[in-house]
Amino acid sequence: MTISDQAKEAIARVLEEGETAIDATMGNGWDTVFLAETVGPSGKVLAFDVQEAALKKTDKRLERAGVRERCQLVHQGHETMGEHVSGGVGAVMFNLGYLPYADRSVITTEGTTLRALQTAREILRPGGVIAIICYRGHPGGQDEARAVWQWVLAQSESLQVDAPKDFPVGDGPFLLALTK
Ligand SMILES: C[S@@+](CC[C@H](N)C(=O)[O-])C[C@H]1O[C@@H](n2cnc3c(N)ncnc32)[C@H](O)[C@@H]1O
Repeated sequence: MTISDQAKEAIARVLEEGETAIDATMGNGWDTVFLAETVGPSGKVLAFDVQEAALKKTDKRLERAGVRERCQLVHQGHETMGEHVSGGVGAVMFNLGYLPYADRSVITTEGTTLRALQTAREILRPGGVIAIICYRGHPGGQDEARAVWQWVLAQSESLQVDAPKDFPVGDGPFLLALTK
């Protein structure tokens, strides 16, 4: 099972039909489609990205999947999440790094990712989940992954944390999950 499948599985266990979910890193829209299908026609998905190219690709993908009407695509960084939704969110998904086949210099970074995670934690409903896939094969990826891993471990007094106890060696991707 891929890391992406594991992240989806963690979300599918918790996210219910009719709920609101957030794709914090829209990219090519694969995760947005997954979230939209999981929440169903009565649910809602907010998806964020700083790149116009991501919104265009995702828009087409959602149309093709027949789930466009339940999704709101936000051309802003995920650090603005709190301006768009104030609570009751069933799941927030982060797929960190760069947009494949596009400008690899546009990457998620520690400062804004941690701000978004803090907000995600606040707007999550009890029992809701945050899933984070950390990629670190690109410049800056390792530093962001370490900062996110440390932040996640620091939440363990108040949230259920699924994360490696030691920072994983190497530069392969790894999954972090938090349940409220
Ligand atoms: C690994 S890709 C996401 C892949 C995506 N989930 C998919 O299913 O195709 C990471 C994305 O994060 C975006 N990104 C970078 N900084 C961001 C920010 N501050 N807020 C939201 N997205 C950001 C990049 O533009 C890129 O599209």
